[in-house]
Amino acid sequence: MAVPLVDGFGRQVQDLRISVTDRCNFRCTYCMPKEGLHWLPRPDILSFEEIVRVARVFVERFGITSVRLTGGEPTVRAHLPALVEQLAALGVELSMTTNGASLAGLAGPLRRAGLHRVTVSCDSLRPGRFAEITGRDMLGQVLAGIDAAVASGLQPVKLNSVVVRGVNDDEVVDLARFGRERGVEVRFIEFMPLDASGQWSAGKVVASAEVVARINEAYPLEPLTHGPEPAERFRYLDGAGTVGVVASVTRPFCASCDRVRLTAEGALRSCLFAVREADLRAILRGGGSDDDLAQAIADEVWHKWAGHSIGKVGFVRPPRSMSQIGG
Ligand code: 5AD
Ligand code: SF4
Repeated sequence: MAVPLVDGFGRQVQDLRISVTDRCNFRCTYCMPKEGLHWLPRPDILSFEEIVRVARVFVERFGITSVRLTGGEPTVRAHLPALVEQLAALGVELSMTTNGASLAGLAGPLRRAGLHRVTVSCDSLRPGRFAEITGRDMLGQVLAGIDAAVASGLQPVKLNSVVVRGVNDDEVVDLARFGRERGVEVRFIEFMPLDASGQWSAGKVVASAEVVARINEAYPLEPLTHGPEPAERFRYLDGAGTVGVVASVTRPFCASCDRVRLTAEGALRSCLFAVREADLRAILRGGGSDDDLAQAIADEVWHKWAGHSIGKVGFVRPPRSMSQIGG
């Protein structure tokens, strides 16, 4: 029988995010340090069998209902549909966060393997700027990937845009319009101090309230009731769908956080900003039992922080960047 996985503040974990690789085919400026990242050696990365075993323990022992695949960039992991098929068999809501560049070819196979939904990261619709942000001149492939995802029946398809002052804050309304036209929900995310290159500063954060005001001026909005999910969502009054903001900095949602993260090398992190982690790989490869895994998971989750303290005295930047943690 599954027991709820609860942390020291009474929050229940429902959502497991699995980084299937630390590698990425993009080089986003705010993600990668200038000198590049050293990829993990292949043997250090969990095998599909190991990933599925951890996920199964989460589902069987703790009743986890949602699994999201992340990276690095999840689609650069070879044979990803085979992993999706095994995870889908666990009966969870299965989603993926991707840069979208490989979706034109992969959306169909992933959908058929059992993937339910997908979120594509895209911060600019201007080819030159897109190339500058991501280090890759691939906006066309990403847009084709979004179309392929919608056509394949992945549902819903969402778009994540990190808004950075002076970089793409002038594109908020364009991105919103794109979402309206394609029938995808765009979510504007506040820039968090998770960039390996140390580019973050408080002045580069565009508050979600400002994003909402700008969209509302162009396309009037009405708030939807806000559940425990991080995104605050709005409906276009003219019926052209929905849009969301994730106010991770100005209105942290740590109090209702239901996530944990498994890194590509099998470290369990209870918070994006965690400084401690549990080495599940050591248990997997040291002959540990499912009980041992469950015990280590419960113990790590018990130590989950109340929340981050971006902007406050004592905030410690985590030693890993987003690409090493997964979104
Ligand atoms: N702040 C907010 N979001 C970020 N992402 C990457 N780095 C940051 C950051 N510093 C986003 C990516 C993608 C998801 C994996 O996380 O753009 O949407
Ligand atoms: Fe790759 Fe995502 Fe990092 Fe961009 S932000 S380099 S897509 S892992």
